[in-house]
Amino acid sequence: MRKKLVVGNWKMHGSRASNAALLSGLREAGPWNADVAVCVPFPYITETALALTGQAMSFGAQDCSAHEQGAYTGEVSAAMLADVGCRYVIVGHSERRAFHHESDQLVADKAKAALAHGVTPIVCVGETRAEREAGQTEAVVKRQLAAVIHTLTHCIGEIVLAYEPVWAIGTGLTASPEEAQAVHAVLRMQLHAATQKSDAMRILYGGSVKPDNAVSLFGQPDIDGGLIGGAALKAADFSAICRAAG
Ligand code: PGA
Repeated sequence: MRKKLVVGNWKMHGSRASNAALLSGLREAGPWNADVAVCVPFPYITETALALTGQAMSFGAQDCSAHEQGAYTGEVSAAMLADVGCRYVIVGHSERRAFHHESDQLVADKAKAALAHGVTPIVCVGETRAEREAGQTEAVVKRQLAAVIHTLTHCIGEIVLAYEPVWAIGTGLTASPEEAQAVHAVLRMQLHAATQKSDAMRILYGGSVKPDNAVSLFGQPDIDGGLIGGAALKAADFSAICRAAG
């Protein structure tokens, strides 16, 4: 039985004051039966670490460089994330693929850099609305995952995968539990062909997960938790989603 994982993706939101309030709300609401983490903007990682000292909740970042170190102005390495205690890093979020033109291979290289430093990459895959309407959903997510499988080879079992249909992110539109499950099953099969660990790997669903749809999504056999954007910014909503995963 896979333990569920719920990850809050704060994106570019927050301030020291609002983060402190949110984390204190989560401290009061937890612990939960599921594993829970928050992926916060870089400047707030250390304060988040302090606020979560002694808590079961873990924390991480929303991106990392594929490079080890060097003259890469503005980049943050996986080694740095490990150094400040990050457990997770999101890589290949659709907003980075779209706005920063991240390729499948770059995303795979970032995942590899994270694993090399003991930080678990949460690798995001997902199709756009146009791709879904053109019947390309499976082909797109399989292509995105294939790059990661090819690059990580025997380490692929160490990642967390997140299926996030781009059309469902921040739109209030959610894939139905059945639609999401169908894609998760495809991804699990692809992992199965690549690693004996596929049954133990967690595949999260992301895209407008809210307290009122979390139970039905998390009830699907291959949905092992969620990557939560908007609803992760409110302690009451995020904790309700964590409870739904428990
Ligand atoms: P959303 O974002 O929950 O606001 O749709 C999810 C994500 O982008 O990870």
